[in-house]
Amino acid sequence: MNKNLQIVRYGINGEGIALLNNKIVFVPFALKDETVDAQIIKENKSYFTAKLNNVIKESDNREIPICPYYYDCGGSNMQHIKYDEQLKIKKDIVKNNLVKFANCHFLVNDVIKSDKQFYYRNHVSFHVNDKGQLGFYKENSNDFVTIKKCFLADETINKCIDIFNSYFFDNQIHGYNKITKQGIIKLVDLKFVDNKLLVTIVSTQLNLNNIDHLFVRLNLLKIKYGVYVSLNKSNNFLIYGEKLKHIYGIKQIETCEENINSFISCYSFLQINNYIKSKIYNDISKNVEGDIVVDLYSGRGVLASMLSKMAKKIYAIEIIKDACIDAENILKLNNIQNVNILCGDVKNLLPRIEEKIDCIIIDPPRKGASIDVLLDIIKVKPKKIIYLSCASNTLARDLKILLNENYYKIKFIQPYDMFPNTSNIETLVVLEKNENKY
Ligand SMILES: C[S@@+](CC[C@H](N)C(=O)[O-])C[C@H]1O[C@@H](n2cnc3c(N)ncnc32)[C@H](O)[C@@H]1O
Repeated sequence: MNKNLQIVRYGINGEGIALLNNKIVFVPFALKDETVDAQIIKENKSYFTAKLNNVIKESDNREIPICPYYYDCGGSNMQHIKYDEQLKIKKDIVKNNLVKFANCHFLVNDVIKSDKQFYYRNHVSFHVNDKGQLGFYKENSNDFVTIKKCFLADETINKCIDIFNSYFFDNQIHGYNKITKQGIIKLVDLKFVDNKLLVTIVSTQLNLNNIDHLFVRLNLLKIKYGVYVSLNKSNNFLIYGEKLKHIYGIKQIETCEENINSFISCYSFLQINNYIKSKIYNDISKNVEGDIVVDLYSGRGVLASMLSKMAKKIYAIEIIKDACIDAENILKLNNIQNVNILCGDVKNLLPRIEEKIDCIIIDPPRKGASIDVLLDIIKVKPKKIIYLSCASNTLARDLKILLNENYYKIKFIQPYDMFPNTSNIETLVVLEKNENKY
């Protein structure tokens, strides 16, 4: 069924929203104030989903996407929108989530821009198809899109696409197929920082045909690099395998972040946009206070190391062992003695800290923090809670708990454009204790 629709606002993923028969219609790739011709492809109790056929009246905020795979690959969903409008939409997404999930109407600051809107990603995990070609699965589907270039990824990461395609093709190496269980390669994970490349090939077998042919090709990049194979025989696509084998070159990326000499290894988390990461870490450091600071979900401990001069003692809690090893090495390398790395689940380790905690930083994965962790934070009663989030819906859900009973009040809410041309947003919220309540 084709319909002419008037787009009245944006949804939480930046898609256009129209109204039809008292129901809302989600129209991906349509902009507010546009009139579009769209085909209704799904009807639910309270909404329709439509596919954009044609824009009849175009918004001034429409942009021509530079990526030829844009409408197929699903890796980005805002390239058709001018950058300033993207930022406005993202600010509204944060605002709307806060109202919807936390009944919070606090002022949200304008989104801080990224200096780069393309080629900003320093870390990409490519899937591999039956023919050994790199690409991505369309979101929530088994449709594979092969790509020659990703416009969000760093240029060197892009050069690796051809290198891997030709190595896999020449050596008859195929991607693992979840349904047929044929093929061996699950992911090619590439981290590129400071002109150094760390490659993790996730595979159902440790030995790959003629692996030296890959090194010959990677040598042409004329950069320092290292290659690992992560053995993953189970029916998932996780980078963490049963065994991690170093097969060539550097073992980690050695770099310097925020004046801290640091390491990045295969399994440790990397904030994907260096410029925005620096801005956020600096904003966090301006807001940290007190003698005892706890950094929850601390990754490689770079932030904790950076904050070491500002507090008497810092505890950093992280579950991934390799990230904790990176963190210990970073502390040694920088001669930092007042940061304690606790390796394990935040849920178990936070309650074991006996000292009076002044400030808690929390930077959980997209799913947010567990209720146990949030209740423990409230029990600890730090003067400040600094919450960094990459998903404003779970941020809002967690804030509802932290703001309950008015023990805490919001100092500011600052979104950052960590992921330009996508609807993802990084948000920093600083909470202060309501002294008269505790
Ligand atoms: C968004 S990253 C933040 C990393 C770090 N703050 C940084 O800036 O690089 C989330 C981190 O939480 C860790 N993590 C996930 N679940 C955890 C848990 N239950 N307990 C401790 N750490 C966890 C992940 O391994 C990851 O390093």
